[in-house]
Amino acid sequence: MSRIFFDAASHTLLLTTPATSYALRIDAEGAPRHLHWGAPLTVEQATALPTYDGLTSSFASTSGEEINVEGGPRFGVPSLLVRYANGARGVEWHYEGHEITDGSELHIHLRDQHYPLGCTLHYAVHDDSDIIERSLTVRHLGTADEDGPIEMLRCDAAVWSIPSRSGTRMTHTVGQWTGETQLRRTEAPYAETTFTSRRGVSGHFGNPWLMVDAGDATETHGDVWSTVLAWSGSWRITAHRDHTGGPFTVAGGGGHDGISRRIQPGESHRTPVFAGQFSQGGFGAASRGWHAYIANHVLPHPDEPRPVIYNSWEATGWHVTPHGQRALADRAADLGVELFVVDDGWFGQRTNDRAGLGDWHPNPEHFPDGLGPLVDLVRRLGMGFGLWVEPEMTNPDSDLYRRHPDWVLHMPHRRRTELRHQLVLNFAREDVTEWAYKWLDRLVAQHTIDYLKWDMNRAFTEAGWPGHPDGERLWTDHTRGVYAVIDRLRHAHPGLRIEGCAGGGGRADLGMLARTDQTWISDNTDAVDRITIQHGYSQIYPARTMSAWVTDSPNPHTGRTTPLPYRFHIAMTGALGIGGDLSHWSQPELDEARELVALYKSIRPVVQFGRQYRLEDAVQYMADDRLVVIAWGHDRDLPLNGLSLDDVYVDELTGAEHHAANLLTRGLPLHLGGGDRPSAVVRLTKQ
Ligand code: DGJ
Repeated sequence: MSRIFFDAASHTLLLTTPATSYALRIDAEGAPRHLHWGAPLTVEQATALPTYDGLTSSFASTSGEEINVEGGPRFGVPSLLVRYANGARGVEWHYEGHEITDGSELHIHLRDQHYPLGCTLHYAVHDDSDIIERSLTVRHLGTADEDGPIEMLRCDAAVWSIPSRSGTRMTHTVGQWTGETQLRRTEAPYAETTFTSRRGVSGHFGNPWLMVDAGDATETHGDVWSTVLAWSGSWRITAHRDHTGGPFTVAGGGGHDGISRRIQPGESHRTPVFAGQFSQGGFGAASRGWHAYIANHVLPHPDEPRPVIYNSWEATGWHVTPHGQRALADRAADLGVELFVVDDGWFGQRTNDRAGLGDWHPNPEHFPDGLGPLVDLVRRLGMGFGLWVEPEMTNPDSDLYRRHPDWVLHMPHRRRTELRHQLVLNFAREDVTEWAYKWLDRLVAQHTIDYLKWDMNRAFTEAGWPGHPDGERLWTDHTRGVYAVIDRLRHAHPGLRIEGCAGGGGRADLGMLARTDQTWISDNTDAVDRITIQHGYSQIYPARTMSAWVTDSPNPHTGRTTPLPYRFHIAMTGALGIGGDLSHWSQPELDEARELVALYKSIRPVVQFGRQYRLEDAVQYMADDRLVVIAWGHDRDLPLNGLSLDDVYVDELTGAEHHAANLLTRGLPLHLGGGDRPSAVVRLTKQ
């Protein structure tokens, strides 16, 4: 069944998803003009829609086009900003045609009327999702050198137009190291508002997505337009609220202000995807739409249960010895852990953060016989084996840097700023990615490593590539290089699973999730702080991708004391792991932890694969006939969500019966127990 329709008489294109429609029209000048993004429309209804008049009469700041350029009376945020070799700028469109492939992809071909610039707007829709994927290909259509390069000063993947309402509110996240994905909701100013990362990674400071509503949406009700960028490098999303009546626009793509990329004759550039979803049913429904889309269209192995992991970082830091790791592995296995991950500190001269990055061989003093004996022991204990790596980095105090000082990002006559005593290797260079692939491939193959935690602990500075005629392309090509190494590695080692990490959640995005299995979302493992961080992460990303460890109390970062079950329950809302120093846990603590791991395994299919409902101080998951509620706070009746009125549920532990109608209104009676920070897991089954 085709999901995309074309009305030749009016040049109107209609894209349909299961519950929404999106419409645009090619105008007489050849420009694609936006018509509609919202509730379902028929072709007839779409053809009857007028285009926004921003270009023709009111000269509004946002003109309501599918791609914003300079040229004519356009004064909005240009999503494509180009400069030709003779200094001319802007675009005058000529429409060359469009193709609809498989009834689910639309490609609109445009070119400039004079200059050798070609452009294709890509759209894709799915049968099982209301998410629309958009991206852009820019081509230099010239053939001869005399055409000169075209400089792209901004090249967004898409501009989304949202109907102006009396209120317009933006939802997004802010953050920092150990405090990622803090949700913010704010009335949009009548202005251009840019959300961005200039760091070379998507960053801790804001996640690359933006939701828009009319100011009236709640967790359970209301229209929400959400947009998410699938990119792990620098990025920019600019929202523009126009007081003269144009639509609210959201333009987004890779790159940041002041950085350009040249395309040469014959060359083309494809942007990452900037996807959008219109949903009704509030922010909760918007999130569930993204969770399902990520499971069905982004993750490499969505249906695999994520293992219970042990990670040694908080226990041993850089003091990684076979003896210490063995002691932890023994205890982890006894608790029911399924995968043991040795974090930073196993290689080169890495006994602190000043040395060793780049020298990817086991530390000769600590591991004179290599990693083999430890890997064998972990396997004998019945666990998979994982290893931390940070392939994009080097310490000046490393053999690699001494051999290849030119491999790092740098600029002539500029200092090489060290952050965490390390420099960034230029993954835009093929010799660098080839080197990285080779040692990773060797390492994984030698020990049939099951899992890599791929870390990245600093932002770009002095991001130059001396000798390259278009060095600024490294801002894009570094990320592409990372993607290429991971993709190649996964292809060569189909059993390998990867956790994305960047000093915690500094690169938690759809670009990484397309090639990793889960994300380390924060170095803050304090269960109380985690609630907020996880709440922000869950707005877009599904629970199965959210690594969450139980660590020690008092927490090493915050000093806060919390009970063991509380720490477990909060971590159970995602992919459970343990990161505490098990060698200091008492026997009663270990016994309780073993039971809690078993409890998690019993709810794992519901948490990891179910639909998620965020409740007040609780999260509810539903899959098939099972329902799990993880709650904290205080005893109360907790109204649930998403149930069919006539169903009856039974509490798996107490046998108590609950009518769904009562669970939805009066609520689930919660008995969390006493003490400091009470919490509980409730398991219900539909009768
Ligand atoms: C930052 C990560 O987020 C931590 O979990 C840990 O792996 C350290 N890096 C190791 O240096």
